[in-house]
Amino acid sequence: MIDRRILQVVKGGNYILGPECKAFESELAAYFGVKHAVLSSSWTAAVHLLHIAQNLKSGDEILVPSLTAFPSIEPMIHVGAKPIYCDIDDTYTIDLADAAKRITKKTVGILPVHLYGRPVNVDGLLKLAKDHGLWIIEDCAQSHGAKWKGHRLGSFGDHAAISFYPSKNLTVYGDGGAILTNDPEIARQVTMLRNHGRKDKYLHEKIGFNLRFNEIQAAVGREQLKVLDELNAGRRRAAQWYRRELAGTKGVVLPPADSAETESVYHMFVIRLDNHDVRESLARHLKEQGIETGVHYPVPNHLQPAIEDQFGKQPALPKTEDYVKRILSLPMFPSLTEAQVVAVSNAIKGFFSRK
Ligand SMILES: Cc1ncc(COP(=O)(O)O)c(C=O)c1O
Repeated sequence: MIDRRILQVVKGGNYILGPECKAFESELAAYFGVKHAVLSSSWTAAVHLLHIAQNLKSGDEILVPSLTAFPSIEPMIHVGAKPIYCDIDDTYTIDLADAAKRITKKTVGILPVHLYGRPVNVDGLLKLAKDHGLWIIEDCAQSHGAKWKGHRLGSFGDHAAISFYPSKNLTVYGDGGAILTNDPEIARQVTMLRNHGRKDKYLHEKIGFNLRFNEIQAAVGREQLKVLDELNAGRRRAAQWYRRELAGTKGVVLPPADSAETESVYHMFVIRLDNHDVRESLARHLKEQGIETGVHYPVPNHLQPAIEDQFGKQPALPKTEDYVKRILSLPMFPSLTEAQVVAVSNAIKGFFSRK
């Protein structure tokens, strides 16, 4: 089906920002429950444009968890704002009590990350933002389709952004991303900025960029969006098998189960071990058996050399710094079979029984 759609677009001769992009934007907006989706060439590009449209000023402070992909903080730095790193709680998402302590007169917004496909505490987040007059941009790069109280993430903040990077839950055969918003003026600005600030073909209202999206990838995305819930169900099924197989394994802390409010989409299934040495030797043991694992992320952003270079040494974040030494991402993808999960789990249990 996807092959046919790609061929159709190629034959149509329309390659960028055409009818496929328009339709994909409408379908994304409907899926996420917002008024507007605006495509761009990546999450990073889309959020850069969004921050410009928000008119962020030099010195504005934005609360953000340190445990996230580095791109979560790049766009804000490019527009002169300052990331204020917050610790995490046991869900690996932003610790809202810690975030509250870091609010100053310069704080303008908060960029929570629904990390690993697990929703942050949305009620707590909304209250914190409201109490302090902060805007929210939800980083939904890893959480397409995840829900809080039955509603999809991406519709709770002032704005949100999604990524289609090839490992994500929703993909487009390449890079891509979009902002989600209910604000028509923000959508209009981002739409202009991604295309050289064009108001129409020969009129430029803004100094913009070329951060457009293309028709072939939009056609792929439209097909992938139709099966996203099904793919997420595959991830959720695999997570349940891991839970069943690894329950009670001494030395392995499983990811927190969903609460009454959350429906996670398991972009990753991350376990936590006793210490760094155990993590490293377990990863080696699994690799010897042909099982690839990962660490997301071994170096939190507040400790990245680029950040220390630009902003100096950042305050310590005890839980983040502890957990990054101990977390391990197990194989997780929608078509993971029960037999594969059992095999990975047996390899983990074998490691601990041999110790
Ligand atoms: C949490 C998070 N935020 C932002 C990004 C950036 O997305 P992109 O690669 O589309 O710019 C990613 C993906 O790398 C991510 O995982």
